[in-house]
Amino acid sequence: MISESTLLVRPEHLNHHGSLFGGRLLEWLDEQAYIAAITRLDYRANLVTVAIDNVEFHQQVRKGAVLRFRSMLVHVGRTSLTVHTEVALMPSELNIFEAYVTFVALDANNHPTPVAKLLLEAFKPRAPAIRKHWKVVEAGRLARKRGQ
Ligand SMILES: CC(C)(COP(=O)(O)OP(=O)(O)OC[C@H]1O[C@@H](n2cnc3c(N)ncnc32)[C@H](O)[C@@H]1OP(=O)(O)O)[C@@H](O)C(=O)NCCC(=O)NCCS
Repeated sequence: MISESTLLVRPEHLNHHGSLFGGRLLEWLDEQAYIAAITRLDYRANLVTVAIDNVEFHQQVRKGAVLRFRSMLVHVGRTSLTVHTEVALMPSELNIFEAYVTFVALDANNHPTPVAKLLLEAFKPRAPAIRKHWKVVEAGRLARKRGQ
């Protein structure tokens, strides 16, 4: 399931160079990814962002640009969920940015809690659109474990 939305880059979103402020893009990213995750879960789920990976800015974005965000749940761990988001300039659909945002489900005491019981429907990691992202996330998890 892909969660999609479009945003207009307004003057208040720009940095002192006159292009889109990177922090604003990260805020939108976090929010869009959160929406993609929370809409797959029971409404009682309490998600916090634990990590944003793969952040690289390759393209300046100007005032008046229309950005399309496409977010998809691509990994489910024990207590974490990871959403991949692609951002494209419209109407050319030029891909300008992509990133993985990982959320952790917390219980009432703010401790990580299993996400499986919160999922509204089964997550299918073998779906073709998801498989390559699943592998990227798994590689990151392995690298983190090795680094610990
Ligand atoms: C979320 C939080 C409770 C996790 O605590 P923690 O001690 O790292 O917990 P754990 O080690 O048990 O990890 C919990 C899950 O997070 C994942 N995780 C931890 N660090 C991660 C990272 N850098 N990248 C991706 N996933 C990560 C773990 O793999 C684990 O997932 P799994 O259960 O699916 O295997 C804690 O880091 C926290 O409270 N962070 C602040 C969250 C916040 O305020 N976010 C708002 C942004 S300012």
